[in-house]
Amino acid sequence: MKQTQILIVEDDVKMRTALREIMFKEGYSVETVGTGEAALAKIGTTNYDLVITDLKLPGIDGMDILKAIRKSRPEISTVMITAYATVDTAVEAMKEGAEDYIAKPFNLDEIRIIVKKVLERKALVDDNKLLRSQLKKKYSYENVVGNSEGMIDVYKTIDRVKDSKATVLILGETGTGKELVARAIHYNSIRSEKPFLPVNCGALAESLLESELFGYVKGAFTGAARDKQGVFEVADGGTVFLDEIGDISARLQQVLLRVLENGEIQPVGATTRKKVDVRIVAATNKNLEEMIKTGSYREDLYYRLNVITLRLPPLRERREDIATLAGHFLRKYCANNEKAITGLSKEVLRLLEQYAWPGNVRELENLIERATLLETTSEITRESLPEHIRTATDKGLLANDEDLQTLEEMGRAYIIKVLGKVNGNKVRASEILGINRTSLWRMIQRFKISE
Ligand SMILES: Nc1ncnc2c1ncn2[C@@H]1O[C@H](COP(=O)(O)OP(=O)(O)OP(=O)(O)O)[C@@H](O)[C@H]1O
Ligand SMILES: [Mg+2]
Repeated sequence: MKQTQILIVEDDVKMRTALREIMFKEGYSVETVGTGEAALAKIGTTNYDLVITDLKLPGIDGMDILKAIRKSRPEISTVMITAYATVDTAVEAMKEGAEDYIAKPFNLDEIRIIVKKVLERKALVDDNKLLRSQLKKKYSYENVVGNSEGMIDVYKTIDRVKDSKATVLILGETGTGKELVARAIHYNSIRSEKPFLPVNCGALAESLLESELFGYVKGAFTGAARDKQGVFEVADGGTVFLDEIGDISARLQQVLLRVLENGEIQPVGATTRKKVDVRIVAATNKNLEEMIKTGSYREDLYYRLNVITLRLPPLRERREDIATLAGHFLRKYCANNEKAITGLSKEVLRLLEQYAWPGNVRELENLIERATLLETTSEITRESLPEHIRTATDKGLLANDEDLQTLEEMGRAYIIKVLGKVNGNKVRASEILGINRTSLWRMIQRFKISE
């Protein structure tokens, strides 16, 4: 492990020597300088772990050094030394990013402990960052964007199951990326050279779906002029993606169950069965467990499909991915449309991060595509957002000075607005507001909001 490097900035020679001695005895590699100017020159060229600086220096002072570090070398930790620390200087130093401060006169133990604590905290943060980036590298899938914990779990599961033949059931609200993840499983598996064939089970009538899946023989029905293979045969060695698997009829549920049980299909009109080698990935945004309870879905089929479950979290539960996804789609649609937009304005990002995203990633993608086309400046601005997102904080936050409101008034108005949008549904409203239902209920009482 590399030795910890510390820079001490102190104009008082006695103090400087004393500090160097203590830090050296603690086993750190120490350098010292007497002016802010010399400090900045060193910081620009050496990878220090920690800079301990006196506040008062001739010329460039400690506060300037803090600012410079925060701006250009934010990975360096800082500790400020202040004579007769007043609360004000300490607070200001912390605001500028100092991790801690030492008040003169100090004793040696005190400074040892503070430095140790700051370095430990830094090591922890560095470790976490490293871990995150390693995980991300290990479990990243082309086109699938997002580093939230929820998505890292998804990558881990894909990684664990991609090469097995076990059936995967992907669950998630509309637009959360079920089809995208199904493709990622296939194209990263040992089957990737063989076909990936998606079938939308919700879009076809029962008889059409059956012949699409399993094929038919000549003469099976009017119009069946010759034998035709179904996707299960065409995909031999590859993957069949059964999308909207909650939408298949009771009879097809039974047929599919048999296929899953013995790996054989029977084309429509055929008298014999055929062995097939396909991996099945299925997806639905329906609640199959509920459907089992009401008798509209076969429990045995559910267990066959659900060997491995992959749940895709809704976007509102991983808001930290919104900025990354928005940037990804911005680059995509700028390239498609030959536009040169460099980013999103802070205000736009804030609006996007607050929004509830009922249509999840698909809704975000559509929004960015539209905004890319509409935008006339070099940055996506609020004007290019659709009305319902643009006005989310219009009243209140962005009002004229004359009608500035108190937080209470604004909170009340916003709750009423959200309740209106979800037709009074308190569960949805509390999700959007990011508070639990009891808190919402209390606010409704307190603000005297009528049903
Ligand atoms: N994590 C992600 N990274 C990048 N793009 C994503 C991500 N998740 C979803 N998308 C994009 O969002 C759109 C919707 O994704 P997809 O079609 O996979 O959703 P779905 O869950 O199948 O939705 P539905 O239930 O409505 O069919 C696609 O264009 C997809 O590429
Ligand atoms: Mg889909």
